[in-house]
Amino acid sequence: MIRVRGLCKNFGAFRALDELNLDVLPGQVLGLLGPNGAGKTTTVRVLTTLLAPDAGEVTVAGHSVMADPDSVRRSIGLSGQYAAVDEKLTGYENLVMVARLYGMNRKTSAARATELLDEFRLSDVAGKRSGAYSGGMRRRLDLAGAMVARPPVVVLDEPTTGLDPRGRLDTWAVISSLVGNGTTVLLTTQYLEEADQLADNIAVIDAGRVIAEGTASELKSRVGSERIDVVLVRQDSVDSAAAILGRIAGAAPEIDRQTSKVSVAAPDGHHMLVRALGDLEIAQLQVVEAALRRPTLDDVFLQLTGQRPKAAAASNTTDVASSGVGQDQEVLLS
Ligand SMILES: Nc1ncnc2c1ncn2[C@@H]1O[C@H](COP(=O)(O)OP(=O)(O)OP(=O)(O)O)[C@@H](O)[C@H]1O
Ligand SMILES: [Mg+2]
Repeated sequence: MIRVRGLCKNFGAFRALDELNLDVLPGQVLGLLGPNGAGKTTTVRVLTTLLAPDAGEVTVAGHSVMADPDSVRRSIGLSGQYAAVDEKLTGYENLVMVARLYGMNRKTSAARATELLDEFRLSDVAGKRSGAYSGGMRRRLDLAGAMVARPPVVVLDEPTTGLDPRGRLDTWAVISSLVGNGTTVLLTTQYLEEADQLADNIAVIDAGRVIAEGTASELKSRVGSERIDVVLVRQDSVDSAAAILGRIAGAAPEIDRQTSKVSVAAPDGHHMLVRALGDLEIAQLQVVEAALRRPTLDDVFLQLTGQRPKAAAASNTTDVASSGVGQDQEVLLS
């Protein structure tokens, strides 16, 4: 349903997309995972005909974005990075307006709006001004708007960035139900966990290129399912601690001398954490903080490329939800 070959896009001398290739089969979800400035929104804009590519071949539902943009637009629903809702209108009125813009008559528009409000769990607030909605409700209203014309392909640009955990879970549920209906989805995200939850396949992009791709479990098995972070009291005990953690994990730990932190993949989860703390205690290496956490996007990059993401540094965005923020799930032991 989506086929991208050798896609390039330059902004002046800056190459935002560099020979990008992607494939999404009918009814599948592709997660485009990348840090700030990786080229996610640029890809979305090309796919949705909002931006012309400089080189490459891009087709959506068999239509070329260059040769036949009208057919592409008819096949695709877009929920952009920043939810586009008219704050002065209620949720119901927003959806009726979109339906009318698609050329549906009053009666069909009203019925479609009511149906979508129900499907996107917004019936309770249907009559409320959308300007007063929470971030999660607003995002779901925007998603509903993208679905008005029942497009076979939907593109969601960072559907949960900026939402609290509750809003994120609700949005995930709504996206999962879309997929259940057979819709083909391309979604961008900065969260490995989100791609893992929703996507059949994941393409990791950085600086406009795909640097890894596979199923969530393939990527996770390359990255390690969980990680242990240990912060030592004394900076000069970092190497001894790294040796202990490396032996238990059977993998090379990452050392940050400035913060006296040692981090290692922990396939065995909390068992390994308990064992690590025991062995560190026996070796009399004092620990300030120990945590078990799921891998972040930074960990993915480090494992896949041996480096931190490039794009974030090159990017001129200032989004606080940038890569590598371990946003949830910490188990602090001290
Ligand atoms: N219209 C533009 N003019 C100049 N540079 C641009 C333009 N749009 C994007 N860029 C640059 O292209 C690169 C990719 O941007 P893009 O918005 O696609 O990143 P992204 O992966 O969506 O990032 P984020 O997670 O912050 O949304 C960035 O370095 C950005 O600064
Ligand atoms: Mg973006």
